[in-house]
Amino acid sequence: MTRLRWGILGTGRIAGIFSRGIIASQSGQLAAVGSRTQASADRFAREFSVPRAHGSYESLLADREVQAVYIGLPHPLHAEWTIRAARAGKHILCEKPLTMNRAEAATVAGAAHDHGVLLMEAFMYRCHPQTAKIVELVGSGALGRVGLVQASFSFQRDFNPEVRLWSKALGGGSILDVGCYPVSFARLMAGAADGRPFADPVTVTGAGHLHPQAGVDVYAAATLKFANGVVAQVACGTGLVQDSSARIYGTEGWLHVPVPWVLSFDGGTSKIFLHRKGGAAPEEILIAAGPLYGIEADAFAAALAAGRREVPQMTVADTLGNMAALDQWRAALGLVYDADLPHPAAALRSR
Ligand SMILES: NC(=O)c1ccc[n+]([C@@H]2O[C@H](COP(=O)([O-])OP(=O)(O)OC[C@H]3O[C@@H](n4cnc5c(N)ncnc54)[C@H](OP(=O)(O)O)[C@@H]3O)[C@@H](O)[C@H]2O)c1
Repeated sequence: MTRLRWGILGTGRIAGIFSRGIIASQSGQLAAVGSRTQASADRFAREFSVPRAHGSYESLLADREVQAVYIGLPHPLHAEWTIRAARAGKHILCEKPLTMNRAEAATVAGAAHDHGVLLMEAFMYRCHPQTAKIVELVGSGALGRVGLVQASFSFQRDFNPEVRLWSKALGGGSILDVGCYPVSFARLMAGAADGRPFADPVTVTGAGHLHPQAGVDVYAAATLKFANGVVAQVACGTGLVQDSSARIYGTEGWLHVPVPWVLSFDGGTSKIFLHRKGGAAPEEILIAAGPLYGIEADAFAAALAAGRREVPQMTVADTLGNMAALDQWRAALGLVYDADLPHPAAALRSR
């Protein structure tokens, strides 16, 4: 089998984790890495046995061996480098959030479409069999009629202005970093309740706490209301210990997902718990799967091999809806980034 040849943009934390995923995948191989500095590209290439190391992102995009790129840069750089990758004819897996806001995401989607390349926002949990099982249970009516979804993703780090998460210029804050997961889950569940791939909320109301120095959110919560009656409560944080889990409540029972997002990097068995109405104890459902990021790389490659320009588990329309909900959540906090100011989307098109 011919393996998909990946180029990695950026040599940060998740770029290393995803590279291990490619190595563990059934379908991919590491072809090249690009960094702002040659030294960092060389170090990364040695660590992950990558054949070619480029001292700039431009040089990586010009590498004819590279078929698909993985973009693991801070969020404000996603739009520019995704568009440049599309123009270079590379298929694109870009980290979440795809861009800073929906307007940028629409520009990126247009570029991918115009250049005929596959585009996926890297929500790895969407490709995991556990998520497919949850969708199946909700869709099959195992919970009865779904009414309420609760989901959160949070961790606690102390304030450090040197770190991406606390830098407004680098898109810091918890809504964009991790709040995007529970929003995407709520939209997935609201859709699954009606046998659709996703649904978009009719209203998003939110609140959150902004760090006094950083000006980005440290924790936040939102309520999403969907036209089919589903209501979701979502929460996130970068400075708060929360239970990062999901619960789906229906008329006939409820489902508890203790680990919805970061499932095992090495593969293994995960557990979800189905509490049936009147049941004495919850039913344990076991799901066996391969390595989290390897599964994602394989889903991407499978879509490409099938001639698709998007990945069914996370389509472009799904991404656009997610970005719109995040825009509304941020608006409730008055959280505005440079990318939200009047001109960036137009500037991107002309770059
Ligand atoms: N799906 C997941 O599981 C997951 C997990 C974590 C993060 N993420 C996403 O991945 C992206 C990167 O996150 P990360 O935690 O890996 O970040 P990180 O460790 O800070 O790495 C970001 C990399 O981007 C490059 N970069 C370019 N311009 C930069 C700048 N001005 N400042 C800092 N770095 C710059 C650097 O690589 P070079 O120096 O080599 O150019 C840097 O190593 C984010 O969008 C985040 O949301 C996803």
